[in-house]
Order: sequence, then structure tokens, then C-alpha cells
Amino acid sequence: MMNKDNSLDIVNTYNSATLMNAIAMTSKPRIGQVVESLKMIKVPVPRPDEDEVVIKMMASSLYADELYAAQGTALGRFFGPKVVSENKPYIMGSSVSGIIVGLGENVTGLSIGQNIITIPSQTPVHGVWAEYSCLKQECIIQKPEVYSFIEAAGIKMAACVSWGAICHSDIKPGDRTLVIGASGGLGIIAVQYLKSLGAHVTGVCSGKNAEMVLSCGADEVVDYTKKDFGKLAVQNRQFYDAVFDFVGGLDGEKSGFLSLKKSGRYITVTGPEKFIGENKLSWVKLCRIFYHIAYKSISGRIFGPRYIFGEMKPAKAIHPALSQALKHNIRMPISQVIPFEIEAVKEALNLLLTHRAKGRIVIAMEE
Ligand SMILES: NC(=O)c1ccc[n+]([C@@H]2O[C@H](COP(=O)([O-])OP(=O)(O)OC[C@H]3O[C@@H](n4cnc5c(N)ncnc54)[C@H](OP(=O)(O)O)[C@@H]3O)[C@@H](O)[C@H]2O)c1
Repeated sequence: MMNKDNSLDIVNTYNSATLMNAIAMTSKPRIGQVVESLKMIKVPVPRPDEDEVVIKMMASSLYADELYAAQGTALGRFFGPKVVSENKPYIMGSSVSGIIVGLGENVTGLSIGQNIITIPSQTPVHGVWAEYSCLKQECIIQKPEVYSFIEAAGIKMAACVSWGAICHSDIKPGDRTLVIGASGGLGIIAVQYLKSLGAHVTGVCSGKNAEMVLSCGADEVVDYTKKDFGKLAVQNRQFYDAVFDFVGGLDGEKSGFLSLKKSGRYITVTGPEKFIGENKLSWVKLCRIFYHIAYKSISGRIFGPRYIFGEMKPAKAIHPALSQALKHNIRMPISQVIPFEIEAVKEALNLLLTHRAKGRIVIAMEE
């Protein structure tokens, strides 16, 4: 929470502002062209509806899924932008930590100057890569004090998704677990959560990220560029109780099943298509994916190991996820903090699209 003078300053600055900077598209890009189409533009400063809160952005984490939503792939196919123009720009950014600088008439229980984070959304949202954004009261919660704005922006989505997946897995102390994509945003938090529950953790990542994964608590690491963890498990006759897949694809799934005990659980947050938003899938392909998930879920229940699509509503996951993270000092490695500048953001987004950015990249406003 800010002191009274600082709160007054930022509220006065907000009240007197008419235009603000925002990172946006002003026309609908082709698939794979979102980054090129982004610009820093001036847009009117938003004023809140009666149930909205105005947030001054302090930090925001970058996700490839935001680009997929903008180009109309993955869930963007259903929730992506319909019309984008100079008059109706599509402001990017789905996740923010910041300070409340304005309240709608009907907002209760929140106050000016309060530090908040947004609850990640299950469906694609956008509009926070701007100096200010107006958000529904139910989308925000207080920022945990021990996290800086940057740390809070970096961890919250990964915490919700990883914790949600782990809640489906009935982990007990001493269980042998494996995390595919252990160096990514979701995986690196999952490694720490699993250790906090007393599990033995093997991380799967590329060799260059092995040290980071080990330093976050993994007991061992398999470099997927050199070895197949499934074959390794069979060779060593050391099988897992749970495999968490944060990368997706049939190869990972095949190795995952090879490496599991019959009573084990394979928990995926991505399904059988790796980096699913990169291309627009045909309806036939989409149906095949749904069929695959349904078939695996049913046959796994009968014959084992179980196949679980491990999702939990972020609004349900966020409080227990953050509470477990705070209790065990779980942190998101932030690989880059970048300024709210168009070229820096574009460069970071291009790196993100290589699926090789470790931990998280976060945009930070000057404090
Ligand atoms: N269901 C949900 O609610 C939900 C929510 C958010 C995200 N997701 C999905 O979850 C996935 C991961 O998200 P993220 O934010 O963690 O991504 P990220 O931070 O970009 O991480 C990608 C990771 O993938 C690893 N990787 C790339 N190719 C690999 C391979 N062939 N084998 C093993 N690992 C490989 C990379 O490891 P190295 O760099 O070490 O090679 C990197 O650690 C994304 O596909 C995203 O769409 C699902």
C-alpha cells in the first residue's frame, strides 16, 4: 500500500491525463505476423464503469498465448478479435500487477493506492499493455506483499496452472515425479511445488537450463536433446508416480506413458499438440485432438496409467497456489525485465516464440 501523498499524486496524474501509451495492433494480422504488427499508440485514458477498478500498470508478464489469442488461433479462434482498426485498436496484454488509481461507484472492499494483481483468465483477455486499464472488481486481488510487482506479475499465472495440475495428481511425500518443460514458466514453478510436497522430482529440459532447474530444487535433470526420459526409465527400471507435461505433443506423451508405473498419472495442460496456438488447426484436426483426450482419459481409467487434462479455474486456484508459494518461498526466475517500449517488447515476444525463454520475461514500468 502506498503512503497518502504518493496515492494522491498518482490519482491526480490519472485524473488529469487524457491520452496514454498502449501497445496495440490497429489491423488484423496474418498468422505469425502479430509481433510485426504491434505499435506503441496513443489512446484515450479509460474511465471506470460502476463495477470497475482503474489500474496503473506496474508490471506485466509476457505469454506466447497472448499472441495466439491476437491472431485467432488456439482459444483465440473462439475469443479472438473480430474487428481491429485504427479506431478500434486491440491493446495487447492479459496479465498485470499494479496500483488502484480509480474506483467505480459500486466497487466495495478495495481502495485507492492498493497494490493488486489480476486473476489469470481461462479465456483470452487483453488490454493491459497500457498505462492504465479498467478491470472488473472480481478480476483482481491484493498483491502478496513479499512479492515485488515484477515477481507477482511473473508468478501468478504459472502458479495457478501448475498448482491446478498438481491438485489433480494426489502427490504424496516420496512419490517419484517428472516434469516435462521444467525450465519453462509453468514447469519451473511445478518443480518447486512438487518439492514443497516432498516428492522426488526429475526435470526434463535442454542442457543449457539444467543448472537453473536443479537450483530450483529438482533432484535430477534429463536433457531431452540427448536422451529420451521414457527409454531411460525403462532402462533403469525406475518408473514414476506422476508425469507433468507442460510442453505437449505425442512424443512427450509416448515417453511419459513409457516412464509411468501402471498406477501412475500423466497430467497434461497442453494435450497431444505441441505449441497448439502456432497454427490454425482444421476442424478435423481439432476433433481428433478432443477424441484423443477423451479416449486416453477413458482407457487410462480402465487399464492405467491415468491420463488427466489437469486444469483448474484460476479463480479457484489462485489463493491456495499463492499461499503454498509464499509458505515455501517459491519464486519465478525472471530471465529478463524489459521496459514498456515497443522495440524491447517485440524482441522479447520473438524470443518467446522460439519456446526457449527460461522462466518469465516481464515488462516493468518505471516506478
Ligand atoms: N492449460 C492451461 O491452462 C495453460 C495455461 C498456460 C499455458 N499453457 C500452455 O503450456 C505450455 C507451456 O507454457 P510455458 O509458459 O511454461 O511456456 P514457456 O515458458 O515458453 O516454456 C517452454 C518450455 O518448453 C521447453 N521445450 C521446448 N521444446 C521442448 C521439447 N521438445 N521437449 C521438452 N521441453 C521442450 C523449453 O525448454 P528448454 O528451453 O530447456 O529447451 C521451455 O522450458 C504452452 O504450450 C502454453 O500454451 C496451458
